[in-house]
Amino acid sequence: MKDKPGVIQRSLFGGESLPGQGTLFGDPNSAADQAVGRCVEQEMLLEHMGPTVEEPCRDLQEGLFHQGREKPFHEVREDIHHDVESELPAQDRLAEIDNLVVLRQTVLECRRCGLRQGARGAVFGEGNPAADIMFVGEGPGQREDELGRPFVGRAGQLLDLMLRSHGFSREEVFIANIVKCRPPGNRLPAPQEVEACLPNLEAQIRIIRPKIIVTLGALASQTLIDPGLRVTRDRGKWFQKDGVSYLTTFHPAAVLRDERNKKRLIWEDFASLRQKYTRLYGGKDTD
Ligand code: URA
Repeated sequence: MKDKPGVIQRSLFGGESLPGQGTLFGDPNSAADQAVGRCVEQEMLLEHMGPTVEEPCRDLQEGLFHQGREKPFHEVREDIHHDVESELPAQDRLAEIDNLVVLRQTVLECRRCGLRQGARGAVFGEGNPAADIMFVGEGPGQREDELGRPFVGRAGQLLDLMLRSHGFSREEVFIANIVKCRPPGNRLPAPQEVEACLPNLEAQIRIIRPKIIVTLGALASQTLIDPGLRVTRDRGKWFQKDGVSYLTTFHPAAVLRDERNKKRLIWEDFASLRQKYTRLYGGKDTD
């Protein structure tokens, strides 16, 4: 892809760069690092801008992968009816649910904690219902709450970039969060909110049966792997639990806040993910 002469481009990591400078990764004096940064950043900027609500509705995979909507997402969500026949309250039915469509309806109806009140609606998660790899973040932010999709703000753009740069597509993985509703002001979800919402994620994991779960940031890592885990110390490590391989890495938002110290490390973690996935399950190796 060619540079546009004279156009200042905004780095995904927050800075501005002149075309060709390649600010994304690595040593600014290294031609190789510049080339990698330039390629991925321009590809990202030109091809991977987030969807808008004005885009026509395109539901794939039984309505799980929303690229946009004909009407605002909260209205779509209010249209969803209680069509699951059961005597049990919605949340107690989780253990009985064996497909993501029904689970999604149940999660959208969830009122187990107060977060739903302050949010436009629950953000269920999206991607391949039979994904080998699942990514778990913290909780929806403002953009995610508006669109009803996980990781669609700046952190999501970085996640997309990491995926694409390591030969994965967003559609082949599944992306979810620890809590499904946006905490007010993007605060950290409280322990009782995490506890209330966790059965929703556990049901997603049970149904999707991923081989690998990548935990993005401290909350996801401590909730799913080990409460004593420290991301700065333990990132890049693999853990085995209940037949699933877990990889812990930084939350993309943390990388955006501390590009200098974290960008190369998250890149290494995604390279480790690609290597392990290729080694264990075949497929292309992007190295
Ligand atoms: N941060 C998260 O943890 N999850 C999202 O979906 C978006 C931002």
